Amino acid sequence: MEMRATMAEQSDSPWLDQVFCEDALAGLARIPDGSVDLILTDPPYNLGKDYGNASDQQTVEEYLCWTERWIDAVLPKLKPTGSLYIFLTWRYSPEIFVMLKKRMTMMNEIIWDRRVPSMGGSVRSFSSVHDTVGFFVARKDYYFDLDAVRIPYDAETKKARSRSIFIGAKWLEVGYNPKDVWSVSRLHREHSERVDHPTQKPLEIIERMVKASCPPGGVVLDLFMGSGTTALAARRCGRHFVGFELNPDYCAIIEARLAEEDAAAALAAALPVADANGKPARARTAKAAKAVKTVKTAKTTKTAKAVKATKPAPAAKAAKTVKTAVPKRSRVPKPPEEISI
Ligand SMILES: C[S@@+](CC[C@H](N)C(=O)[O-])C[C@H]1O[C@@H](n2cnc3c(N)ncnc32)[C@H](O)[C@@H]1O
Repeated sequence: MEMRATMAEQSDSPWLDQVFCEDALAGLARIPDGSVDLILTDPPYNLGKDYGNASDQQTVEEYLCWTERWIDAVLPKLKPTGSLYIFLTWRYSPEIFVMLKKRMTMMNEIIWDRRVPSMGGSVRSFSSVHDTVGFFVARKDYYFDLDAVRIPYDAETKKARSRSIFIGAKWLEVGYNPKDVWSVSRLHREHSERVDHPTQKPLEIIERMVKASCPPGGVVLDLFMGSGTTALAARRCGRHFVGFELNPDYCAIIEARLAEEDAAAALAAALPVADANGKPARARTAKAAKAVKTVKTAKTTKTAKAVKATKPAPAAKAAKTVKTAVPKRSRVPKPPEEISI
């Protein structure tokens, strides 16, 4: 599976497989119109989070105005067969879905149930434990590969459907449609993929979107990379990526995550296909993969901690850009149970 841009692709498209540490609105000019298969993005929710910039602390008016500006700037980058996924919370998804519905066709509202444990929470309303994800397409002939993301039936279900009428049933063999409620735990400290970003998304979710809505070898764009989950998912799935992130500390995390992924892939590729006796080296491969995972985890955590230890980062050029681009005031009430992961 080729995950890096070929030499020819890179010289034609120097923006491919890069995360630029800069304001997305400024950086979008690097990407030619009509060159992206999938926009997969997780913007600040405006719930008051501290990303080392003021992007999540705008007034409602400023936030919605800024959102409409980046939507208008990014949509021309999409191919006619392209799609867009956007992570939001219930607080502003109604307004933002309306903006997008004026420009695209809405296919799904996906509920990401973050499996937040019951721990008290609000006493005057119901605790919010989900993200609202919008799935939009540009045209009717959009790319969508359901087979790539079907969920296999477990052995018990298959056994229960063993009567002759079910034998050879394609749906039983290929698995089921993941449906529109995705119950995947948010990332806790004990999860090996967790790094030092307050709203890091699980790879399981992002990889499902990439596989379903971007053809192999296609291009995924994320304007707000955070810890780089979209870039990593794209690379793991054999797609190209491009994106932006304002905070230089998070850019360092992205670089480390991609480097670790490449090192693990290189190591796995270097392992012998068969052992000395000519038998498939499966056990050894699995063992080596486990070892790589352990190294990866330790390295990511260390990098993240080192990044955290140097906070606050020296005022980088990119950070200056956000200060001028995003106003600083915060007038948004933020009940704690609303804060997404
Ligand atoms: C919700 S987080 C993304 C988390 C990401 N999906 C992950 O899995 O790690 C939003 C990110 O957008 C970044 N950001 C905010 N405004 C930006 C801008 N104008 N350009 C680029 N990045 C920005 C923030 O620093 C923050 O890391």
